[in-house]
Amino acid sequence: MAELTTDRIPLIAGNWKMNLDHLQSIAFVQKLAWALKDARFDFSTVEVAVFPPFTDLRSVQSLIAGDKFELTFGAQDVSEHDSGAYTGEVSGAFLKALDCKFAIVGHSERRGHHAESSETVGSKAAAAIRHGLVPVICVGETAEDLETKGASAVPVEQLEIALAALPKSVEIVVAYEPVWAIGSGQAATPEQAEDVAGKLREVIGRSLGADTAKSTRVLYGGSVKSGNIASFMRQPNVDGALVGGASLVVDEFAKIARYQSHVGV
Ligand code: PGA
Repeated sequence: MAELTTDRIPLIAGNWKMNLDHLQSIAFVQKLAWALKDARFDFSTVEVAVFPPFTDLRSVQSLIAGDKFELTFGAQDVSEHDSGAYTGEVSGAFLKALDCKFAIVGHSERRGHHAESSETVGSKAAAAIRHGLVPVICVGETAEDLETKGASAVPVEQLEIALAALPKSVEIVVAYEPVWAIGSGQAATPEQAEDVAGKLREVIGRSLGADTAKSTRVLYGGSVKSGNIASFMRQPNVDGALVGGASLVVDEFAKIARYQSHVGV
């Protein structure tokens, strides 16, 4: 088993999906930053990132830079190509130019609605890295996979394929998101999240080496709320959460980010 450390800075990431336009994004990020500031949130102990739609990124960048907020941000997807005749796609170079830190790749909604294979997810992760972005690589099993193959087989295979395209010494984030848990109100148990996160860390170790396995943040995602975040964060291999629905409510998302104040409650 990969060695466990406590020096990975947890990441609480809000995936807005196709919600909030650029004007709404400004109001939201302002309120979020103020809510955390009012609570004397320490950004050196937990990183808080938002993932708005592409059309919001410029507004979010200007606000965060102008007001010196400590929030980070990323895009919900990135093209596997750098430039050219790819109508509708967005290059990692453009995202980097907007100061994006992260790009989500392989979210189950992209895999499902756009038939993205794990090979494509690997190419997108490689493109993100080429442009200096940190890919947030999402993997997870469907309800049917869970029943027929158990929880870890599909995410492990998806991650093995995606990592095959990457250089060894690299910053990535991995998000374990059981498809059946996304938007369903039915989160995985903390034990399942820990078990799969541990196996994913082993995949990272085999593919990218022990150091990268040790430093990579593995998130859990799927119906994370302020009421269950602490139970996931107590797991040694879970280093944060990818939050969908609950990331659209300022106070709830701020409470999730402040899980340290309710760990043990
Ligand atoms: P959820 O979504 O928190 O609404 O379940 C998680 C995700 O899709 O990243």
